[in-house]
Formats: sequence, structure tokens, C-alpha cells
Amino acid sequence: MTQRFEFELHGTDDRARTGTIKTPRGDIRTPAFMPVGTAATVKAMMPESVRATGADILLGNTYHLMLRPTAERIAKLGGLHKFMNWERPILTDSGGFQVMSLADLRKLTEEGVTFRSHIDGSKHMLSPERSMEIQRLLGSDIVMCFDECPALPADRARIKESMELSMRWAARSREAFGDRPGHALFGIQQGGLEQDFREESAEALRAIGFEGYAVGGLAVGEGQEAMFGCLDYAPEQLPVDRPRYLMGVGKPDDIVGAVERGIDMFDCVLPSRSGRTGQAFTRRGVVNIKNARHQEDPRPLDEACSCPCCSNYSRAYLHHVFKAQEMISGMLLTWHNLHYYQELMAGLHGAIAAGDLAAFVRGFHATRADGDI
Ligand code: GUN
Ligand code: ZN
Repeated sequence: MTQRFEFELHGTDDRARTGTIKTPRGDIRTPAFMPVGTAATVKAMMPESVRATGADILLGNTYHLMLRPTAERIAKLGGLHKFMNWERPILTDSGGFQVMSLADLRKLTEEGVTFRSHIDGSKHMLSPERSMEIQRLLGSDIVMCFDECPALPADRARIKESMELSMRWAARSREAFGDRPGHALFGIQQGGLEQDFREESAEALRAIGFEGYAVGGLAVGEGQEAMFGCLDYAPEQLPVDRPRYLMGVGKPDDIVGAVERGIDMFDCVLPSRSGRTGQAFTRRGVVNIKNARHQEDPRPLDEACSCPCCSNYSRAYLHHVFKAQEMISGMLLTWHNLHYYQELMAGLHGAIAAGDLAAFVRGFHATRADGDI
């Protein structure tokens, strides 16, 4: 196994790419979907089950882990991989984005951000230097730069100011990260939906130099059409020989459209969170298991799915355990949803490798209904 962090491109189909990210903790097949393990767990799943769905890498969060149980405690106990019993790669987000959406009494300065914990009101600080220190203590394989982004819509002046601050923070993140063979630091492009700011941001990041590049600041309320509009130019502003990661995306059709536009990595709470609220993703569309029309339905969620949920349980059972608020409800639906997402990624790899992505995408859309099925 490699002791270095490397990205190998294996094939392209128009703008779409397939490849492998090589790390000392294992390979990541791209396009990759990273299940979200915010608080050192993918909720309702054992780590070996997450692996069984086909995941090569998980995402963890600086913001949540610094507050509870703290990065120092995780480091003392041997790092995040050992702590949560996941030995494969982990990418950690840097905290700034979560502070902006979750923390109380935030104060943003050139230095960083001070805030109060949403858990107990205690006071904390994050800066590029502190975020790099926390992600090092966690033992993260792919570390994200400390950044900031406005909710959309926002005016151009606010978007520019925020992007420029994030680029100064990116330089400080690179400096503070230091030289850590086998670990990667990813830059995060900002600039809202403004093509000129996206280009300035990409140029600043390319000048600093990163092992990978994220497209940040999307899926923050702009809608799919506007997001795809941005993805029609943003990925190509980033180096062709490094992985490109679209942060916080998305629904299955968002992922398919973004892969077509040259994105290699994704993370989203949707498959795991929806699993706990009774929503299942299938190739024919979304199934709302709480709907009364499932109460005597002996069929599985998806006849074509090979996951343990679909192999062993009826819609009637899933409806019952959801209504009865039994824990197995979230467990089975989360397993199915993560399996569905990983199968979608495998289908995308195969199609790109075969030079057949357009036909795969037509098939993907043709079998889906828009509403509830
Ligand atoms: N998650 C979703 N979007 C973003 C972003 O723009 N920055 C960071 N750090 N995390 C994100
Ligand atoms: Zn299934």
C-alpha cells in the first residue's frame, strides 16, 4: 500500500472522470460518496455495515468533535479512526461552515471566529491554525482548509469580501498544516455564483497549491439549476490532475449532474438523515415509508436492491417499525439508502470507464418518478 497521497485518473467521458485516490489507509474509488459521520458515528450504522454498503471513506466534523468529546480527548485515545473503529480514510470538514449554521453568538474577524457551543453555550474559537491543529489531533487523512461562506442570495460585495477572507485563510491553513506525508490538505473554492470571483478564488488556491480542491459555497439555497450553472465552469477552473470535491451535495440527481460536470467526491447527510425520517431513495424515486399505503404491502422497498433491508423485510414491516418508533427503522432505511448511493456511484464509475455515461444518465432519469412512489 502506498505511503503517499496520490490521485490516479483512469478514464474520462466528456467532462466526467473516474479514478482512484491512493492513501496509506486505503484507496478511494472516484466518483466517491462519503457518508457523514459527524459525531464519530454514521448514525444508526455499525462501521462494518457502512463498509459493507461500499463506502471507501467517511466524513467527520471538526466543529462537533471539538465541542464533544474534544479533539484532545480523541487524540489521547489514539485518534478518530481507532476511537470510532473505522480504519479506512476519513475526511474532516474544518468547522467554519458548521459554526455559521449551528453555533450561537458568532463573531467573525480576520483572525477567525469566536462562538458559543450549540450544546452547552460554552465559548470557543476557531482559526485556520486551530482548525489544522484539531484535524491533526483527530488524525484526519484529508484535511479541509478553514473557510467561510455567505448564504445565497448575497450581494456581490459580501461574496467578494468573504471569498477573499477565505483565500487568506487558505494560505494560513497551508502554512499551519505543515509537511505531513500521507495526509492531504484540500483548498476550498468560494465566490458564490459569480464566475469572475470563482476564477479569482481558483487562481489563489492554485498559487498556494493543494493535494485536492473543493467547490464550496453551493447547495446553500440557490437551487439545482443555478448550482449546475456554476458547475458548468467551476470544476474546470481547478487543476485537472487533482481530485475535485463538491461539498454538502446532494440528492441523487444532483450527484449525477455534478459527476457529468467533472466532480469526483461528494458528502451529504441526506441518505442517513432521510433514513431516520422514513424516506428511502430507490431507482424508481423516493418512498415515504410512513404513508398508509405501505401498511399491507409485502414487497421490499426496491425489488432490484440487494441490501439487507430489501433482502429480508417488507414495506409493511418497515411501515410498522417506523410508526412504532423502533430503532430498527432508522437502521434498515439508512442501510438501504447508503447502499443505494454507493450503487449509484459504482454505476457512474462503470459508465464513465465504458465511455457510456450519457446512456447511463438517460436510464437513470427514465426509471425515476418525480413524486412519491
Ligand atoms: N459544506 C458544505 N459547503 C461547505 C463550504 O463551502 N465550506 C465548508 N468548509 N464546508 C461545507
Ligand atoms: Zn435496499
